[in-house]
Amino acid sequence: METVVSGIRSTGNLHLGNYYGALQNFIKMQDEYNCFFFIADLHSLTTHPTPADLHGNVKQVLIEYLAAGIDPEKATIYVQSDVPEVTELYLYLNMNAYMGELERATSFKDKVRANPENVNAGLLTYPVLMAADIIIHKAVKVPVGKDQEQHLEMARTFGNRFNRLYNHDYFPEPYAFSFGDSLVKIPGLDGKGKMGKSEGEGNAIFLSDTPEAIRKKVTRAVTDSGPTVENQQKPQEIQNLFDLMKVVSTPDTLAHFDELYNKMAIRYGDLKKQLAEDMVLATAPIRDRINAIANDADYLRKVAEMGADKARESASRTIREVREIIGFRKF
Ligand code: TYM
Repeated sequence: METVVSGIRSTGNLHLGNYYGALQNFIKMQDEYNCFFFIADLHSLTTHPTPADLHGNVKQVLIEYLAAGIDPEKATIYVQSDVPEVTELYLYLNMNAYMGELERATSFKDKVRANPENVNAGLLTYPVLMAADIIIHKAVKVPVGKDQEQHLEMARTFGNRFNRLYNHDYFPEPYAFSFGDSLVKIPGLDGKGKMGKSEGEGNAIFLSDTPEAIRKKVTRAVTDSGPTVENQQKPQEIQNLFDLMKVVSTPDTLAHFDELYNKMAIRYGDLKKQLAEDMVLATAPIRDRINAIANDADYLRKVAEMGADKARESASRTIREVREIIGFRKF
């Protein structure tokens, strides 16, 4: 059975981008593959969370993984920092990751631009840690959104480089995966790029948002003053709303508003109302389960312990072999 690995950073509540870009694929894959889904708490350290925030965020992501439908009996769910073998492999891979290629990574350049006062080495080597996460279990498929494509390319580079250096066909090549035709990019509500937690207040719809919060955010989504000619191309902020509708609404609903837009008869208020209600509907079962699981400390502990054991079993096997390949041998 092919192995699958993916993770989500523990920076707080998950949003619709995480869900449609990654989580939905996790849930579908757990029946067909040997799956490892983790909470990337080490990666979240680049932004220096307080201990209380760190723990709270890890717990929240665990709750939301379970609420969304990842089954701990089918997939291995674990917290990244519970598997120290990952950081050991990260160190080995760092010896063959070069400054130039790390500095050229798009996500690194974006982070430098956004936070020039916090360009730490962890940020630079972020893709190396990610490669370690993936190849420690010898994964071949990695369900992620479009924004992670370059990181997957780097994971292949680092794995292949290790294989070449030690002349050993050891790590298989991991590829980004989505059940759809292509990797997903869910837009936010600010009229600009993708939905993301750090893209500003109101840009992201969270799985844990109340119906009222969802309605309020969608009402405030950026629009223009309407189409001026029939069948015109939609400006980005409008296209974004249609793209969101494509994932939460029925094809008929989408076609209906598309036709109104093309005939210049659209009322954005109606479109937003429909979009908000469809988002409320799409998230309702998850929201209910979040509330049901949130206070079940025993269950959460059991899941995390079971996942850590299973993940360490797999990771320690790889580390044993990697040490042997590198030449760390017993006297
Ligand atoms: P993160 O935490 O930023 O995002 C988690 C997952 O959600 C996807 N995603 C989106 N997909 C579509 N549209 C969006 N607007 C959107 N926003 C987020 C991301 O593509 C991702 O799949 N580095 C990773 C976490 C990570 C990881 C790994 C992933 C660490 N190690 C190993 C896979 C394998 C990250 O920061 O994702």
